[in-house]
Amino acid sequence: MTSRRAFVMGHPVAHSRSPMLHGYWLERYGIEGSYERVDVAPDGLKDFFDTYREVGWLGGNVTVPHKIAVIPFLDRTEEAVEAMGAVNTLWWEDDMLVGGNTDYIGFLGNIDELVPGWDRDARRATVLGAGGAARAAIYGLRGRGLEVSLCNRTIARAEALATHFGDGVSAHGLDALPGLLSQSDLLVNTTSLGMVGQPPLDIDLAPLKADAIVYDVVYVPLETVILKAAKARGHRTVDGLGMLLHQAVEGFSHWFGRRPEVTAELRTLLSDDIRAKTPGA
Ligand code: ATR
Repeated sequence: MTSRRAFVMGHPVAHSRSPMLHGYWLERYGIEGSYERVDVAPDGLKDFFDTYREVGWLGGNVTVPHKIAVIPFLDRTEEAVEAMGAVNTLWWEDDMLVGGNTDYIGFLGNIDELVPGWDRDARRATVLGAGGAARAAIYGLRGRGLEVSLCNRTIARAEALATHFGDGVSAHGLDALPGLLSQSDLLVNTTSLGMVGQPPLDIDLAPLKADAIVYDVVYVPLETVILKAAKARGHRTVDGLGMLLHQAVEGFSHWFGRRPEVTAELRTLLSDDIRAKTPGA
């Protein structure tokens, strides 16, 4: 067994697509190493960290339900963790076990790749939803200087996030959406609506600025109903698959010492897997 080992740990982890993408990079760059699924039940978390050094983990990804619970086991967390309230990647820095959150890097890397220069003239974004994906979008967008209007079914959750992020983020209910769209350069869906098994995101895009970009973080299906509608209206669109791919770049770089590329071949590999496992996707 190789000694260069990284992991995705969660409960369950069987569905994770991360092994496929890190496995692709390991093979592409001829790196002798592994990226392994580790199912850790909540009562197994202490044991996982007690044996962490002994196993020799280089680091890994943390997924549901451990994204907050891992924090007490770490020596340090990055600033993004506080902003996003969750950890998704672990790595060593000297002898310190560090936790970071790379979801906002994935959010930005994806739109930077698909719509280069998008933020040159973008001033305002409307973000739908107030969960973890919304936090990544808000953190990323504020970092690029955009004003964010956060729109959520439960306005109290939007208000809590707006307070958390402070300046430049306002909270709204869904009834405010048409007015917000008319002023937005970017519309981002971070709700689960449109995902396989969920109702579609059913909003009228007519009020949206003509040159606005529409970004859906949902990637199963690859082209959601709202992205299809946006394309038909002539908007530039960004799907969610690239967010998964780009968030993984940082982790791989930390563990294996090489910055991997998000290639067309990698996109195809993941897209084919999604289509194969999700009829109609
Ligand atoms: P995540 O952490 O993955 O982003 P989450 O915390 O479950 O997910 O958040 C899901 C988001 O989808 C929430 O903003 C939720 O709105 P509420 O805060 O009002 O629950 C939104 N959402 C889910 N189903 C919805 C629906 N039928 N209509 C409108 N919004 C919905």
